[in-house]
Amino acid sequence: MEKMWAGRFEKALDQLADDFNSSIHFDSRMYRQDITGSMAHASMLGACGIISMEDSALIIDTLDAILRDLEEGTLGFDFGAEDIHMFVEAELTKRIGDVGKRLHTARSRNDQVALDIRLYLRDEAKTIRGQLLELIGVINDQAKKNVYTVCPGYTHLQRAQPISFAHHLLAYAQMFKRDISRIDDAVARMNFSPLGSCALAGTTYATDRRMVAKALSFDGITENSLDGVSDRDFCVELLACLATVMMHLSRFSEEIILWCSWEFKFVELDDSYTTGSSIMPQKKNPDIAELVRGKCGRVYGDLMATLTVLKGLPLAYNKDMQEDKESIFDAIDTVKLCLSVFTPMLDGMKVLKENMLRAAKGGFINATDLADYLTKKGLPFRSAYKISGTIVGLCIKEGKVLDEVSLEEYKRYSELFEADVYDAIDLTACVAQRVSEGGASFSSVEQQITKLSEYLEREKESIH
Ligand code: ARG
Repeated sequence: MEKMWAGRFEKALDQLADDFNSSIHFDSRMYRQDITGSMAHASMLGACGIISMEDSALIIDTLDAILRDLEEGTLGFDFGAEDIHMFVEAELTKRIGDVGKRLHTARSRNDQVALDIRLYLRDEAKTIRGQLLELIGVINDQAKKNVYTVCPGYTHLQRAQPISFAHHLLAYAQMFKRDISRIDDAVARMNFSPLGSCALAGTTYATDRRMVAKALSFDGITENSLDGVSDRDFCVELLACLATVMMHLSRFSEEIILWCSWEFKFVELDDSYTTGSSIMPQKKNPDIAELVRGKCGRVYGDLMATLTVLKGLPLAYNKDMQEDKESIFDAIDTVKLCLSVFTPMLDGMKVLKENMLRAAKGGFINATDLADYLTKKGLPFRSAYKISGTIVGLCIKEGKVLDEVSLEEYKRYSELFEADVYDAIDLTACVAQRVSEGGASFSSVEQQITKLSEYLEREKESIH
């Protein structure tokens, strides 16, 4: 196909160089945004008298037909085209001749591509937001089933204090809620139309940039044409959001992998989300969780790649910037894919409550409560801590747990111990007593679930 810019050249582009330069095999996915943007542009050109209203209408109708044909599969992409923008324009011109050639008035591919990516990312951010809400819904459902499931809470991966398993799950709900709000922030900053910045310096035509921005539901226009075509910090920002989503998914996956191991055996994943081994018949591997954990690396890489491409680039547009797309597309695809398997996997996860309780009983995780018991009876916390530690040391030597120490023995360490010490160190009581706001108590967990349900309800309403 002859290049749009062939007039200035004496020789055709080398085939390999042509392929190297081309981006249609990855930017064709923005066809809908490219066509929608062009329709808004054509409409503005007509309204401002830059092209005739008839030409504007014909361009819009034809673009609409091209969009339909692409969606229905009656029109395929020409992978010989340089990019999606050239392809759509060439198809338009093929259908309506010279009128089609008027579309690119007062526009450049530089502001066109800056517009398309924004529109595309805005759409994808909405999809990912919906997927995250679904995940939070599943976490909340699992939490509801596990309010009274007592398990060890850990620090340093050492059993630390007893908590409700729901409390552990709900911690992730908070992280994913923040991920959503981070994505919302990124979209709000991204949502300004660069169209009309043209190649770099704006245009001599009397365009109406705000009309285009309004038609495409932007919150306004970018204020500096150089910035409009050069800025990709909105890509970096969204990538950082996506990298954070993956970091959270990866931590959650890691825990699920640990919980599935024979060493923990806290949960069992559904057969439909685990795999067997080709050689060891006893194995049930958490491959899905492992892959989600592993795919975090690619999204971190996408973020790094984009930051590095942009580093040191002079203003305004440089072809390096074409490299933004594969990274951000990969990050979006990866996050969407991971969420689409992680959420149902979590939904089908069976919680082995007795095993959790057994583990909770084994690790002296009520030692803090023993110290708190003495403190509440008037002893300074540090002294109480020391006495509890000594008793734990004794138990380890004798191979027993705190509940098995007799009152007589307790009294040997402090006269403050009474028969009610056993109630104070009962695991369920230990959890129930952590009533500080946001703590692990059953009542706090119930409150968190109620608040989360309200949040999900509000979000559902704002979508409809
Ligand atoms: N495919 C190009 C990109 O993604 C479109 C912009 C081309 N602009 C140019 N001046 N060559 O960046």
